[in-house]
Formats: sequence, C-alpha cells, structure tokens
Amino acid sequence: MPKCVSVGLLIRRGEKKHLSMLFKLFITLLLIHSPVLGESSSEEDNGSSEQEGHTKGSSNGNHWGYNDQRSWRSTFGDCGGTSQSPIDIETRDVSYNPSLPAIKLQGYDLSGQPGLKLENNGHTLQLQLPKTMRIVKGFDQVYLAAQLHFHWGTTEVPGSEHTIDNVHFPAEIHVVHYNSKYENIKEAATKPDGLAVLGAFIGIGLHENENYGKILSEIKDVSAEESSTTIPSFNVRHLLPNSLERFFRYSGSLTTPPCYQSVTWTVFNDTITVSRKQLAALELTLKAGHNHSLSENFRAPQNLNGRQVLASFQSSHNVYDKLSRGDILAIAFGVLFALTLLLFFLYAYRQRQNHSKMSDTRQNVIYKQATKEDV
Ligand SMILES: *[C@@H]1O[C@H](CO)[C@@H](O)[C@H](O)[C@H]1NC(C)=O
Ligand SMILES: *[C@@H]1O[C@H](CO)[C@@H](O)[C@H](O)[C@H]1NC(C)=O
Ligand SMILES: *[C@@H]1O[C@H](CO)[C@@H](O)[C@H](O)[C@H]1NC(C)=O
Ligand SMILES: [Zn+2]
Repeated sequence: MPKCVSVGLLIRRGEKKHLSMLFKLFITLLLIHSPVLGESSSEEDNGSSEQEGHTKGSSNGNHWGYNDQRSWRSTFGDCGGTSQSPIDIETRDVSYNPSLPAIKLQGYDLSGQPGLKLENNGHTLQLQLPKTMRIVKGFDQVYLAAQLHFHWGTTEVPGSEHTIDNVHFPAEIHVVHYNSKYENIKEAATKPDGLAVLGAFIGIGLHENENYGKILSEIKDVSAEESSTTIPSFNVRHLLPNSLERFFRYSGSLTTPPCYQSVTWTVFNDTITVSRKQLAALELTLKAGHNHSLSENFRAPQNLNGRQVLASFQSSHNVYDKLSRGDILAIAFGVLFALTLLLFFLYAYRQRQNHSKMSDTRQNVIYKQATKEDV
C-alpha cells in the first residue's frame, strides 16, 4: 500500500526522540491489554468449578454422596484422575470435526416387548435396558445398551452434569452402552474403550412430554431408596433429541464413583423439553435414605486437563467466537497501532509547523530588535 510506504518515509524523517516515545507508548498498550489474553486462556482453571454441598444425605449404605464430592478420590482413586466427567463445554473452544461419524441407533423401539425395570438406587432414577438396543454406527465397535438414568437439581437449582459455557440445564439424561467386544458392562467399565454414554440436556417446555411421561408417571412407585417397579416398554429413541447429528464428543469418565475413565462421551447439542410439572416430579418425588430427598445428584464440572472437545457441527456462534478471541484481538491491535502512528504524525507535523513559525518570528524579532538597537 502506498500509505505504508509514505509512513515508512515519514518515520525516517521523524526525530529519534519521537520514535522512542512511540515505541514506549505501543509497549505500554501491549502491557495494558495482555491481561485480557491471560484471562481467557486460564479459564479452565478449576477455581470456580468445584462447587459442592449438594444432596443432603444419600451416603447411607453406598459409601458416597454428592455433598462430599472432593472426598470421592480418597476411596475411589480414579475420581482424582485427569480425564474426569462431567465437564464444562466451552463452545468457543470446541473443534469442529466434520469427520466425526453420525450415530446410528438400532433396536431402541421396545414397544410391545417385555416391561422394563425402573429403580431408585439411592443415587438416581434408573431404567434397565436390553442389549438388543445398540449403537451400530458412530464408533469403531458396536455398543450395547445397559441402562439409562438422570441427573437433576431442585426446583431452584438446575442440575445437569455437563454445562454449556458454564450454564447448567435443569436436568440431563444418560444412556449407558458398553463395547460389544466385552462380555458384560462390568468387564467393559474398566477398559479405555469400554463405555459409550449418550447424554442430552432436559429443559422446561410448555407442553408435557408424552415420552418422558412413560417414566415419570411411574416415579411414585419408586420413591423409596432401593425400590423398583416394572413399566411398560416404549420407544426409548423418543427420550433423545429429534436430531442426533449435532453433538459434542470427548473422552471422560463415569460421573459417579468409581469414576472409571472409560467413557466416550457424546453430548447432544439439541435439547429435550418436559413440562415444569414433569420436572418437579423428578426433583421432588424420590427419597434417598429414610427422609432425605434425592435431588441435586450432579457432579461438579471437572478439569479438562488439555483434553480436546470435538463438535460434529459448526455453528455461526462458534465461528464468531473463534474470530473474537484471536483475530479480533489482532485486528484491534492493528487499529490501535495505526491510530497511534496517526496521532504521532499529527503531533510531529504540528511540532514542525510550530517550530518553523517560531523560528520565523524569532528571526523577525531579532531583526527588528537589531535594527531598533542599531539605530
Ligand atoms: C485445582 O485442582 C488441584 C487438584 O485437584 C488442586 O490441588 C488445586 O488447588 C486446584 N486449584 C484451584 C485454584 O482450586
Ligand atoms: C421422617 O420424617 C417424619 C416427619 O418429619 C417423621 O415423623 C418420621 O419419623 C421420619 N421417618 C424416619 C424413618 O426417619
Ligand atoms: C445448539 O444448541 C443451541 C442451544 O439449544 C442452539 O441455539 C443452536 O442453534 C444449536 N446449534 C445448532 C448448530 O443447531
Ligand atoms: Zn449419569
């Protein structure tokens, strides 16, 4: 650009003093702005994430509860590992990976088949699933279903386990599958490629969700800890979002002790909605222990520790944020630098003008004075 060339020439013509002033100014600007960089890159620090103090009780008999999450690791070593779940999914930090294969489910429609066991195990509401339900595409192996369960909060506290940009959803469903190359889920649970969990967020909608009703309408029967009932089979596919195409993928763990780091997580971007009343049934009905309500059964987000979160989709939001972090900062510096240069040259130009004016008048004065005194 010709402007750049002229700028270069002007610099050469400018005084050294001014150049060093300009340099100092630029460095100062850099220093002022660098904390912004530092801040955004250290967001993964665990500082704020380890919020605790959840369920009142529920540690009876099962040796762990949600109100002492920090102590899980003393009994269950893996809970202190470096690939733990859940995590906060920072949408601007995920990498779009167009080659993530689409997920294909098979045998999820259980209509007309034998009933399913629904139980309150003291930690969650769980539905046993037959291994005829499977993920047939999306992974290197076929994964067979074992159970699905939920995580929730209270009517005041949203209780999803994963968070999106640090925001919890009211609840979350997990459909747990194990790698068909292993004999059973117990054997698979300790293997790095052992488990595949499909997770989806549950929000509040205007209408009752008929499919969730198949489970939630029976919840009173399992209000006591360690109680179970059999519910009619239905199409379990309908508990997941309409589209399974948009999801986040990362390597993590069971979110409850023993926290084995054997889960390939798929967290769907699209959410499910249930009515406020249905959600309240989940939040208020179940008991853990004799008189404690089973609620806030979600683990705090865990450190990523350098793990990459992949996304099967690209959102405009995502692209914009990527731009805002790196490029916009660079652009801002560029503009700032150009402005600084411009101001400097304006200043230098005016100095030069003043200087030449001053020397003109001085000459005149001297000349006049000289003539006066001489005369
Ligand atoms: C982060 O976690 C580690 C290990 O869990 C802990 O030692 C450290 O104090 C935590 N840092 C902050 C800022 O909480
Ligand atoms: C449960 O709570 C009720 C009322 O608070 C009390 O009467 C009852 O004895 C409690 N039951 C147990 C088993 O603690
Ligand atoms: C992902 O989910 C968010 C929140 O529900 C939604 O606003 C967004 O449109 C979704 N992204 C895509 C690509 O569908
Ligand atoms: Zn779970």
